Parts: sequence; structure tokens; C-alpha cells
Amino acid sequence: MHVASLTVDPAYRIGEVDPRLYGSFVEHMGRCVYTGIYEPGHPHADERGFRTDTTALVRELGVPIVRYPGGNFVSGYRWEDGIGPVSERPTRLDLAWRSLETNQVGVNEFVAWARTADVEPLMAVNLGTRGIDAARSLVEYCNLPGGTYWSDLRGGEPYGIKTWCLGNEMDGPWQIGHKTAHEYARLALETAKAMRQVDPSIELVACGSSGRQMPTFGSWEATVLAEAYDAVDYVSAHAYYEQHGDDRDSFLASATDMDAFIEELVATADHVRAVGRHKKRINVSFDEWNVWYLSRFEGETNLEVRERPRLIEDVYSVTDAVVVGNLLISLLRHADRVRIGCLAQLVNVIAPIMTEPGGAAWRQASFHPFALTSAHGRGTVLQLALESPVHETARHGEVPLLDAAAVRSGDQVVIFAVNRSQTTPMSVDVDVRSLPSLSAATHTALFDDDPDAVNTAAEPDRVKPRTLDDPKLDGGRLQAVLPPLSWNMLRLS
Ligand code: AHR
Repeated sequence: MHVASLTVDPAYRIGEVDPRLYGSFVEHMGRCVYTGIYEPGHPHADERGFRTDTTALVRELGVPIVRYPGGNFVSGYRWEDGIGPVSERPTRLDLAWRSLETNQVGVNEFVAWARTADVEPLMAVNLGTRGIDAARSLVEYCNLPGGTYWSDLRGGEPYGIKTWCLGNEMDGPWQIGHKTAHEYARLALETAKAMRQVDPSIELVACGSSGRQMPTFGSWEATVLAEAYDAVDYVSAHAYYEQHGDDRDSFLASATDMDAFIEELVATADHVRAVGRHKKRINVSFDEWNVWYLSRFEGETNLEVRERPRLIEDVYSVTDAVVVGNLLISLLRHADRVRIGCLAQLVNVIAPIMTEPGGAAWRQASFHPFALTSAHGRGTVLQLALESPVHETARHGEVPLLDAAAVRSGDQVVIFAVNRSQTTPMSVDVDVRSLPSLSAATHTALFDDDPDAVNTAAEPDRVKPRTLDDPKLDGGRLQAVLPPLSWNMLRLS
């Protein structure tokens, strides 16, 4: 048995959780939209063609904001193709994923779906093949009440889309219309100015790096923010993690990389703030993150052109789910600066929700830690004093075997914790003497004798959280045992 300790004190606060930390992402990619959220003719389709079985799971997942319509897709997208009578919309070749895009779903349908799913849209504009004009017209279409060409074409009530991404991964050579930092910085600034002239109330996200491993990471953000600091509110970050070979210990410690990424990004933004004598702070929109077995993906250039191909439909194991839970712990730990997070993606494409065309919808293993963190991780994140045994990993060096975050809301404290040891349970002593009103606790955990166990259409509930015996909470001290390779939620009230 490993032994670790945590001290929770309400005086030590990191920040308030912005509910948008629990966002997700719908891209016109693979089967995320078509046969994912939208499938006319499906037994559970509503009158607009949206799958109500998927929407019910989206609500259960607890995502308050969803980024749309890409991703790499947005960098070749003409949003005007997706408005007007559905039967008259063109079918286009999407170069990002070498797919046929029928435009049956466009901005109007997405906003209608978002309302039924109770989510706020986070809209991205195309700064790959397009620019200022298309972006400002889209803001006009979505947000002006009427009396102008684009807003009258929309009709009805404005959509009031508050937050907008200025392109997607423009630092990546794979991106359609990839740019240097200087090229992007100028375009982002001028596009931001025009979009805000249409609707001054919007918030804007500048593209940061598509990964911490990008050769331009750091200098890209410094260049972009030096140019566009006053015109934007957030800088984005994207990160995907996978297990390399049999190195599970490194994979289980992926959150240490996310921690470093966020801290380096914040340091870069704050450096630009200091140099430019700016007052406001630029916060982080971590608008793509997840486990993705990218090394197994053959790449879009080898794809034969198809409509709604099965692309990157990764099936997540218990281990993957524990990593997802740990990445959420990292986001919570940085809640003072990370205001938006988007689990990429929402349905079928590296997603917590899977569907079959004409068939069932079910929860992947990774659905569970996400849904529970979103449901119970609201309030103030507390700074923990954490003592844990460590071990050595090939990719991240020495890492603690225990990772945890605590969120306080009224009379409740919820601790999210991961035991990264593959073999040994962890006894955790939690000191909550500074919160004398806490007298009871529950323990929910995700773990399995088989860390590779997955959920499938045939066995959709093979992996699910379990309720363990209530841990002892006595004299301000809680004792809990975390199983090996597990994600845990301790609720103290
Ligand atoms: O989420 C899949 C892809 O990953 C997105 O389209 C892109 O932005 C990222 O590289």
C-alpha cells in the first residue's frame, strides 16, 4: 500500500471554476455531425433530424459550451453553403478530411441543436482560405437583430453567439492556409477588429499552438499576442495524449505535460502583458484536448473521398478514462487562467459518446469521469498541500503517484483524485480540520481488474463508476483507499 496525504483549507483558493471549462467540440469530421448528432430517419430523430438519444447523453455529460464547426475543417469552410433551403445546398469536397460535405447541417441547424442540448455555441471562423469579410458577415448573420443584408437573411431572433475562435491551429503545416506567426497575427488582429465593429459584445480567442511539442510553441504566442493583445480575450491551446508502446506509466502521467503547457502559455501571455504595459490578462481557452491514438491514424492524405467516413473512432479503455479524469484535474488546478476547455470531440470522433447509424448511442469509459467532474466540480478550486510517493517515468521524469484537485461549493468539498500506480492501492489521509462542518463522505471510483476494458454497442455498461464503502471521516481527517490505476471522486458534506 502506498501512503499519501492531502490538506484542504478553504483559505487557499485557486479560483472559481468557469462552467465553460467543461465544454466540448463538434466538427464536421467523420461521423460527429452526420449519424452522430444528426440523422434524419433514425428512430430517435426529432422533427429536425437530430438524434434525441445522442442529445440526452450530451445533457448527461454536462457540456455547457460546444465549439463548432472545426477544427481543421473550418479552414476550408464556406459558412454560406450551410444556410438557405437544405435541398439547394451544395455538396463540397472538404480537403481537411478528404470527405464529401453535404451541408445538410449548417449554422442554423447547429444553433437549433445547441438550444435543445442546452449548450452555448463557441463559433470558429475560417482564417485559412478566407478572412475578414467572411468572418464579419458571419457575426452579422448570427448576432445582429435585423435591418442588414445578412441578419435579414437569417430572420427571427439573433443567435447572440458570444465567443468566437479566430481560425484553428494556424501554426500547423497541415492546416489549410497555414500561416507564419506574423501573417496570422496581422490577419487575426484585423479580423478581430472587424468582427467587434459588427458586435462589440463578443469575446475572441486567438490561435495558440496546436501542441506543446510544436517547434514554434512560445514564440508563436508571443508574436501573435504582441500584435493582437488588446483585440483578443483568450489564447488557445490544444493537446492530445496517447500511450506509446507499453509505456503506460508515462501515459498515466500525461497531466504533468498539460500542467507544464498551461503554465508556459500563461507565462508567455503575461510576458507580453508586461512588455506592452497592458492592463487586462489574456486567459486560456484549452479548446481541444483528449486522449487520441494519433499514431494509429493513417492521415487524411490517404483517405479516399467519402461521405461521413468512420474517422478516428477511438474506443476508450479504463486507462484512457483515468487519463481523461486526470487531465480534468489539471484544468481545474489552473482554473484561475483556463476559462474554457473543450473535450475533443463530442460524438464518434475521439469522443465520449458513440452511436451507430440507425442504431444505439452509448457512453464510452471516458464519459464517466467527465460527466461526474462536470456535475460536481463547480465552485471554488482550492490549493491543496499534497504529499505523495513518486516514481520515474520515461517521458515525464519523476512524477507523483497521486494527483488531485478539490472544489468547494457551500458546505461541500469534492476531491477528484487519481492513483497512477498500476499495481498498488493508495491510502490517502485528507486533513479537513479547517472545515469542521464536514462530517460525511462518499467515494465513487472508476477502475477495473482489466485496465483495457472498454464499452461497446454490445456491452455499453461494461465500464462504469462504482460506489465504494463510505470512507471514514473523523475529527477532521478522512481516510480513503484509492484502487490501483483509478480515478476517484470523494464527496465531503
Ligand atoms: O480533433 C481532431 C483535429 O485535431 C482537429 O480538426 C484539429 O484542430 C486537431 O488537429
